[in-house]
Amino acid sequence: MKRETVVVLDFGGQYNQLIARRVRECGVYCEIYSYKTDIEKIKALQPKGIIFTGGPNSCYEPGAPTYTTEIFDIGAPILGICYGSQLMMHLLGGTIGKAPVREYGKIEVTVDQNSRLFTDVSEKTICWMSHNDYVAEMAPGFTAIAHSDNCPYAAMENTERSLYATQFHPEVLHTKEGQKMLSNFVYNICGCAGDWRMDSFVEQSIAAIREKVGDGKVLCALSGGVDSSVAAVLLSKAVGEQLTCVFVDHGLLRKNEGDEVEAVFGPDGPYKLNFIRVNAQERFYSKLAGVTEPERKRKIIGEEFIRVFEKEAKKIGAVDFLVQGTIYPDVVESGVGGESTVIKSHHNVGGLPDYVDFKEIIEPLRDLFKDEVRRAGLELGIPDYLVYRQPFPGPGLGIRIIGDVTAEKVAMVQDADAIWREEIANAGLDKTISQYFAALTNMRSVGVMGDERTYDYAIALRAVTTTDFMTAESAQVPWEVIEKTTSRIVNEVKHINRVFYDCTGKPPATIEFE
Ligand code: XMP
Repeated sequence: MKRETVVVLDFGGQYNQLIARRVRECGVYCEIYSYKTDIEKIKALQPKGIIFTGGPNSCYEPGAPTYTTEIFDIGAPILGICYGSQLMMHLLGGTIGKAPVREYGKIEVTVDQNSRLFTDVSEKTICWMSHNDYVAEMAPGFTAIAHSDNCPYAAMENTERSLYATQFHPEVLHTKEGQKMLSNFVYNICGCAGDWRMDSFVEQSIAAIREKVGDGKVLCALSGGVDSSVAAVLLSKAVGEQLTCVFVDHGLLRKNEGDEVEAVFGPDGPYKLNFIRVNAQERFYSKLAGVTEPERKRKIIGEEFIRVFEKEAKKIGAVDFLVQGTIYPDVVESGVGGESTVIKSHHNVGGLPDYVDFKEIIEPLRDLFKDEVRRAGLELGIPDYLVYRQPFPGPGLGIRIIGDVTAEKVAMVQDADAIWREEIANAGLDKTISQYFAALTNMRSVGVMGDERTYDYAIALRAVTTTDFMTAESAQVPWEVIEKTTSRIVNEVKHINRVFYDCTGKPPATIEFE
């Protein structure tokens, strides 16, 4: 059966993924395609509806992103947002020009409640605007359904052709009733049934994996992170012992993390899979000995990971399938989905296929956003603490120890980090702070403990809030929490005599220290 799909046609807007996520939050599956995608491909998807995104260009300028007008005749309702709305008008005979007053920010919009797009939306509603151009004249057949002080056509419709356009951005949370508008579009206008739910995703994926794998052998690199854990459990539910998971403990994991992963996925855990834990700590430490340059450390850890994984894979022999924890933002960001050309620069260790003898890759989470991966994880019965695990870089503590890495330094940063995480959780802040950890600075300084002079290391505490990890703010952690953590760290962790709190945002700093 064809999956009910709404297509986001991306004209280079910064909110392309956000639109798709919001539509999915309505219970409707949604995919992003670049405006360069051939119309035949879009038609083949039989979309229930199409959304044109915003974008930074002026649609009347030569070379601006555009699309064939055939799209208006394929029978799917279309909603144009910002640039998308201007392009719709432009292509259908309206006039777009520079707005006499540029609107930016939260603007009060007056809506006409007779429009199906605005069912149950307040007459005066706050919407997020960000535009230099505006619709000066609507295309024939359109009616204005909303306006603001400076924008006569804040929203328009042509009900006969099921075309809708908004100058504002309903997908942005600042548009107070935006989610309702998107829900109106997908349900009232496109007639979607809303069958995108994580329980059915899990059920259907298991069936599809079973069919694909048959009695083949499957190999998965397990890191203990959210994506690889959910992928592994999904596979194990589908093919049980045909799955082998290799978990490389590189000695750069958080305190007790290796044992926690083993407790869930190992022989005493609830899943019936073949679990191989490789304790490669010494091997990694010896390769890293004396190396201080961050990129070099990253490279060594990545390369060593492949070597270890490859060695284990060879023992298993040829496999039919290799599992990768790719998720939808990776697909969009690699340019396959939307218009964005950003190539992911952070590669997780693991799943590096060139070195393993396999026939095909399975990417069971390829269609999911991160929050959906988490919901699928919960659906599969994975423990909360694994499902809500904060991001952890592939090179692990290796890049949270400034300078050279030794087993002693790893132990110090692990202990300090465990205390920090415990205190953040005790203060009930673990759900509101996006990422928090301790890093070992390479700084040593003089201190005094009892009657003795010390010359020991300084720990830096980091806590940030962010939505996309591209920019971040230092979290305003209450002073008592920092104070208590500091006191515990200097008392409980040997060779630490100073604690700093990192107040820097990103930019100019990064979230990690290296
Ligand atoms: P930065 O330090 O660049 O980090 O501000 C942004 C986010 O990415 C994570 N990060 C990594 N993840 N491999 C990864 O898988 C890496 O090498 C890596 N470096 C940073 C970081 O934890 C943060 O969430």
